[in-house]
Amino acid sequence: MLKVGVFGVGHLGKYHINNWLLIPEVKIIGFFDPSNDNAKEVEAKYGLTRYMDEEALIAACDIIDVVTPTHLHFPVCEMAIKTGKHVFVEKPMANTIEEGKAIMNMVKEANVKLQVGHVERFNPAFLALKDVSLNPLFIEVHRLAQFNPRGTEVSVILDLMIHDIDIILSIVKSDVKNIYASGVAVLTDTPDIANVRIEFNNGCVANLTSSRISMKKMRKIRLFQKDAYIGIDFLEKTTEVIKLKQPEEADAFSFEIETHQGTKTISISTPVIEDSNAILAELKSFVDAIINDQPTVVSEIDGYLAMEVAHQILEKISKSNAVLPQPAEFKDTSIKKNEDVELDHLEN
Ligand SMILES: NC(=O)c1ccc[n+]([C@@H]2O[C@H](COP(=O)([O-])OP(=O)(O)OC[C@H]3O[C@@H](n4cnc5c(N)ncnc54)[C@H](O)[C@@H]3O)[C@@H](O)[C@H]2O)c1
Repeated sequence: MLKVGVFGVGHLGKYHINNWLLIPEVKIIGFFDPSNDNAKEVEAKYGLTRYMDEEALIAACDIIDVVTPTHLHFPVCEMAIKTGKHVFVEKPMANTIEEGKAIMNMVKEANVKLQVGHVERFNPAFLALKDVSLNPLFIEVHRLAQFNPRGTEVSVILDLMIHDIDIILSIVKSDVKNIYASGVAVLTDTPDIANVRIEFNNGCVANLTSSRISMKKMRKIRLFQKDAYIGIDFLEKTTEVIKLKQPEEADAFSFEIETHQGTKTISISTPVIEDSNAILAELKSFVDAIINDQPTVVSEIDGYLAMEVAHQILEKISKSNAVLPQPAEFKDTSIKKNEDVELDHLEN
């Protein structure tokens, strides 16, 4: 039985607890959280032990689950890894590039397992594509969310776009060549909305839009490749594959289009989505990696690479904002810090 200690029992930490409790191979030893309100709620609801000493909790566990605000990921990871504990850490893996590099080095040195909470890798709409060959030339991404102060201690790039950066890096097996980015801070001190173009050495281009000040929610990735269009809706958990086929491959879901280059056969398929709980799946996969001594699905290297691209984007935005006039009028008139805007919690 693997012993788990949870650091941070706020919004997402409670989801983690719910899901750790569903995994037979683990037992939650206790949690650490300086918030008395959150701690009391968790003690009452789950009957878990609140530790007042971080080191004592780490010493009592095999796995440390880091669900604190982002700027505290590094110190908690450092304490746990240096004591030889396996770590599950929420995204982004750390706040700064230096911290990310240090985590990678410590994991290697301590020979422990680390997994980063890039939970969209476990979204059933993405998992449904496991048998589809993905080699996109163009990727269009939209991740829009309504405003919620939670998570805004970091920019929309590190809070939301990093999910898509990780998914794209897991699909496109090529190095990043160029990044173009623009972003605007509207309700907070860091970019709340951003548009980014990532060009890869293999010619693939990804165009990403992320907003945390939208009136509606959307989490979509569209992949365009030589012989197919693939649409993934992470929110609705649906996937669509539209494929160019040879005429002899036509089936009941095919239709024909006349072009100047002859008749083309198009087939539409919607892979079967097995509804599943992505948080449970990611925690379970981490436990399996420890038990079977296998690499984690989202390793510290993946976590670092996503951070590296995110920080390059932030640097481009800060450079472009240095020469652009600040959007003062826009701030004052259209989207205000408006108490009437319905706050909706981000789904995980
Ligand atoms: N994977 C996802 O889709 C997803 C979604 C939401 C949040 N997150 C990530 O999860 C993390 C937590 O987010 P949240 O929304 O639960 O935030 P939250 O503010 O609701 O909870 C954070 C908790 O950490 C506690 N905390 C503060 N300092 C601490 C310390 N030193 N040690 C232990 N606990 C401490 C706070 O008291 C609070 O209870 C963030 O890194 C965020 O980016 C990931």
